[in-house]
Amino acid sequence: MYVLVTGGIGYIGSHIVLELMKLDIKVIIIDNLSNSSIKVLDRIIIISNKIPLFFNIDINDENKLDWLFLNYKISTVIHLAGFKSVGDSVKNPINYYHNNIGGTITLLTVMKKYNVYDIIFSSSATVYGVTKLMPISEKCALNPINPYGKTKLYIENLLLDIFKSNIQWNVIILRYFNPVGAHKSGLIGDNPSLIPNNLMPYITQVAVKKLEKLFIYGKDYNTKDGTGIRDYIHVVDLAVGHVKALFYMQNKHICEIFNLGTGIGYSVLELVKTFEAVSGVKINFTFVDRRAGDLDIIYADSSLAREKLEFHPQFNLDDMCTDSWIFQKNNPDGYL
Ligand code: WQD
Repeated sequence: MYVLVTGGIGYIGSHIVLELMKLDIKVIIIDNLSNSSIKVLDRIIIISNKIPLFFNIDINDENKLDWLFLNYKISTVIHLAGFKSVGDSVKNPINYYHNNIGGTITLLTVMKKYNVYDIIFSSSATVYGVTKLMPISEKCALNPINPYGKTKLYIENLLLDIFKSNIQWNVIILRYFNPVGAHKSGLIGDNPSLIPNNLMPYITQVAVKKLEKLFIYGKDYNTKDGTGIRDYIHVVDLAVGHVKALFYMQNKHICEIFNLGTGIGYSVLELVKTFEAVSGVKINFTFVDRRAGDLDIIYADSSLAREKLEFHPQFNLDDMCTDSWIFQKNNPDGYL
């Protein structure tokens, strides 16, 4: 039996694949490589000394998915494939709704056809939208404010509905907070194809002088130093959380939602200072206006994951900055 990881060549997917392979779990990766490099597959093989099955399949391609499920016995799907840029989703909502929701519907249709009913879905804290209630628990109001977050919430609701439709379905939804860091080998990590939207890859590209300086979006937030606070979680902790979810769902009929965050919030300036301390590299920055849609403070109540999944993040902010830095230093121009 195989575990299928959709989007398994991506930043988070590749780290999940490695954690599964570490446990000798048989993995199939599908990825359309629209936002990831095939070089990551080589790196996975180097790190694990094993060769996972990989197919360049788009989740919207029903024929290829049908071929896959016909020819391979799949027990569980860990579903990450999808577009994930908040900014791009505002400019191109049709692409996001078509790809993320349409692709998931195609995937679920083929899963059902081949009696594959266990799915772990990669969701996001963006489904919470604007909220002042901190820390955020899974019971908080859901009110995404951008098309990307809305696609994640629509897919969550679709999964809740299919769970109710047929007793054979089992669903775990994992809401990620802010994934950062990289595998300790420095061989895989966050490698945005364009100018980074997210803070950590932007900082590491400034550190390797690919970018001139960091623009800090706003210093008038209602926080200790005026800059935005987020719940950064090491990508390996996040990956381990998926393995814990996989084991948790075995032999159960469940449909559960978990926040995957550390429960600790750090400001932009705290992250910059920590990065400078662990890397020894000064990060030039300047304050500019707030970015539309940004909130003051977001951090997780992840007590449910701790209790039920035995999810206990192991890495601190120093580790996150160190591992991000090592990856970027080893790959100043990404996966060449
Ligand atoms: C973090 C903080 C910015 C860049 C996003 C998505 C979310 C999830 C994680 C997918 C904020 C500040 C950032 C920069 C800055 N992705 N910042 N200068 O916005 O919390 O979450 O990524 O699921 O869906 O919304 O992460 O890293 O963009 O921002 O000052 O160049 O850093 O204002 O306070 P965010 P981020």
